[in-house]
Amino acid sequence: MNPVRVRSTVRGVGSALPERIVTNAEMETIVDTTDEWIVQRTGIRQRHVAAEGETTSMLATRAAEAALADAGLVAADIDLFIVATSTPDYTFPAVATQVQAALGVTHGVAFDLQAVCSGFVFAVATADKFLVSGSHKRALVIGAETFSRLLDWTDRTTCVLFGDGAGAIVLEATPSDGALTSPGVISTQLRSDGRHRAKLYVDGGPSTTKTVGHLKMEGREVFKHAVGMVTDVIKACFDDAGVTAADIDWFVPHQANRRIIDASADKLGLPREKVVVTVDRHGNTSAASIPLALAVSVKDGRIKKGDLVMIEAMGGGFTWGAALIRW
Ligand code: ACO
Repeated sequence: MNPVRVRSTVRGVGSALPERIVTNAEMETIVDTTDEWIVQRTGIRQRHVAAEGETTSMLATRAAEAALADAGLVAADIDLFIVATSTPDYTFPAVATQVQAALGVTHGVAFDLQAVCSGFVFAVATADKFLVSGSHKRALVIGAETFSRLLDWTDRTTCVLFGDGAGAIVLEATPSDGALTSPGVISTQLRSDGRHRAKLYVDGGPSTTKTVGHLKMEGREVFKHAVGMVTDVIKACFDDAGVTAADIDWFVPHQANRRIIDASADKLGLPREKVVVTVDRHGNTSAASIPLALAVSVKDGRIKKGDLVMIEAMGGGFTWGAALIRW
């Protein structure tokens, strides 16, 4: 960790969920599954599903507005909008430009970032580099998804796992002495390995089928790689910042599966009471899952100013990454 003059500090957090909740009991009426199987294998009890006409950019805009209100800022204060998503309203333009327009902003820059479930961590790292470079002052970093639209609702091996939603944080470039105790993004570590493409992908796209396609996953293969990959990037953050698991106040992992979360926490020696879990309520909302979990745990008073927070994710590609943030 180098001494720094500017850090990206978290000013606010917000989220948005579709109104409609689909419980495991309702899933039993859609595919041949049981509440018991879903809870035992994944920890998921329910997920939110977007209404007809309710799009990723609408959820992203609502989350952004909530984060701005939490930060005590107005949209005009933002000059960088990054939306992490794999489920844009349209192939183009970017969801981020739609959010920028919906918020009435005509300055700054807006773009989407695609790293599937790791998207939010990649977006935080990207925004951090813009802010630390001095090119931009304040960023809205948003994870927003409508994965329900990518699912084959006749495939029980995938459709029970995912949900829709959005979460956002406001990051602000702030003068910093670079101390471990000072607020802001302290370390980010990103990785990818495209050889794993076939283990988790969508079988459609503009340049191949000219359709949106459906999500396909070799669940066991993903599971097998997930724990090792996320613990690798978390340890890289530890080494970079000179901290150990004992220094972490809150571990906010990507919410794909309770068993992956527990196994990662155990491997790192992070006690379960320091782990934020929302997969039971939200399912896997891909790039939205971490900011949704951050919003829940800030709102309920768990994450407080001064806490050391580790976020991490692994997703299609494969992509994986972690970020260490002093709240
Ligand atoms: N209900 C009931 N039975 C089911 C269901 C279901 N919804 N889905 C699968 N089964 C059956 C299978 O058909 C299989 O039956 P069989 O033995 O008769 O063939 C049995 O359950 C076991 O299937 P597995 O796939 O081996 O089950 P596993 O224990 O591996 O659990 C799961 C599956 C939950 C998907 C697990 O592999 C997993 O969590 N993998 C990681 C997935 C993940 O996290 N993905 C997100 C990555 S993030 C991103 O980028 C999107």
